[in-house]
Amino acid sequence: MSGQRSAFRAARWNEPLITELSESGARGVVPPAVDAGIVAAVGDVAAKLPAGARRASVPDLPEVTQHRVLRHFLRLSQMTMGFDVTTDMMGTCTMKYSPKVHDHIARGARLADLHPLQAEESLQGLLELMHRFNRIMCEISGMDEFTFQPASGAQGIYTNACLIRAYHESRGELGQRDEIITTSFSHPADAATPAVAGFKVITLMPGDMGFAGIDTLKAAISERTAGLMLTNPEDTGQYNPHIREFVDLVHEAGGLCAYDQANGNPLLGVVRAADTGFDMCQFNLHKTFSAPHGALGMGCAAVGVKEHLRKFLPRPIVTDNDKGGYSLDYDPGDGIDRIRAFIGNVHAVLKAYSWVMSLGAEGLRAVAETAVLNNNYMISKMRNVPGVTIPWPANNYPKLEQVRYSFEKMSEETGVTSHDVIDRMVDFGVQHCMPSHVPMLVPEPFTVEPGESLTIEEMDHMLNAIKSIAEEAYENAEKAQGGPYNAATTKIDNDVPEDPDCWAFTYRGYQRKKEMWTSDQRRKIEHHQGGY
Ligand SMILES: Cc1ncc(COP(=O)(O)O)c(C=O)c1O
Repeated sequence: MSGQRSAFRAARWNEPLITELSESGARGVVPPAVDAGIVAAVGDVAAKLPAGARRASVPDLPEVTQHRVLRHFLRLSQMTMGFDVTTDMMGTCTMKYSPKVHDHIARGARLADLHPLQAEESLQGLLELMHRFNRIMCEISGMDEFTFQPASGAQGIYTNACLIRAYHESRGELGQRDEIITTSFSHPADAATPAVAGFKVITLMPGDMGFAGIDTLKAAISERTAGLMLTNPEDTGQYNPHIREFVDLVHEAGGLCAYDQANGNPLLGVVRAADTGFDMCQFNLHKTFSAPHGALGMGCAAVGVKEHLRKFLPRPIVTDNDKGGYSLDYDPGDGIDRIRAFIGNVHAVLKAYSWVMSLGAEGLRAVAETAVLNNNYMISKMRNVPGVTIPWPANNYPKLEQVRYSFEKMSEETGVTSHDVIDRMVDFGVQHCMPSHVPMLVPEPFTVEPGESLTIEEMDHMLNAIKSIAEEAYENAEKAQGGPYNAATTKIDNDVPEDPDCWAFTYRGYQRKKEMWTSDQRRKIEHHQGGY
């Protein structure tokens, strides 16, 4: 391993919320008064609005000068870690480099100034782009049509569940077919979203090799089976080699098969969902296709279907018309109408399109090969970290793009948990990685996914950090448990984000709840928000 390079120390600004910085009358931008000529021609614009559309009171927005806004967000950025400043190998989430030039393209006026309600004729460039990317995704997956409407992976998987429901409904079989089969190491949305769509969910547990076997599947299949929804490779990085038989068995029973390829990284240009027999699939453009992850809305799931399911896709979809241009088909037919408004998060589509075009077919395959190579490099080094094990040692199949390691041995021998390791990593300038999704089947889990973006030096940096912490655990457990020491926020109390009385999604909710906090809750929250 090459040497440890960077040391990390976050700035500590104790920065208030932007709303708490508000000063009555402060302004960031003062727009000029409306021209007298416009006022004379238009009159009082507000008076022309229907009474119901006019605000009764001024909105409760923070009033802050431009300079203070700039300082506020720069200070916050100094208190956090991001992919642009440090290594991130968060497992199951495919954190990869998002080329800056793609942000630049997506921010350009030709896209940013469009409105989704504009006339179709004035959106031809965008529609052509969406149509072209649709064809590219069909080529990558073997599917026949895509929608980009869902705004997240979980929404894409929900779309798959709705497609399965619409298909059986159209055949009058929904009353009988009310069960979806998934596996325990698929993403939790593969179980949660069919439940939201009204299905009963059967979860297959892993066998000795770490994945569900054929017999487990056969025992779950019946005339009630509506479909199979799973991830492969699973969260453990393990590709289930029986997948073709799984799909065939579900088809024989009359069910449909949906492939959650949110983390499609290791399969690009290698395996296509349709060639494995799947009826539909979904990719997260904000993971595999380099568009950045965003908080609840910036993402985009590309959901693809085979021909027999095209008519069920949410509307509108982009079609090429007989005038040599592109149209929006709004007719829901027997389909699921819509998952979300309009045609999708087009910024994410544009970034994904730019990424695919810059790589080409050979480049996409190189992404898969490099991601798998990087992962296996990490495995070879992680085996030598004290206290680390890889579950299901009998399974010698190669892992694909990630691995769920276990710190159970170290935890038993030293008391230092995988969460402690994740927290302490921050002091080494490494972002936290994913412990595990639920169900927590692997004890003291630690899920790492290097992806294709990282250099060997960056992987070595992370490995050095993990190794140093593991050694520290055996020499000075208390120190290993006490991190992070150099972050803006030190150890957080996990009771806070899990207590509905404490967290709030909106400022209004925060204001309401904070009146009711007990002194113990207030102490915990203040510590959680930045106490040090
Ligand atoms: C396999 C898989 N499916 C679905 C998702 C959900 O994606 P999102 O976070 O965009 O809802 C993830 C994200 O972790 C995933 O890894």
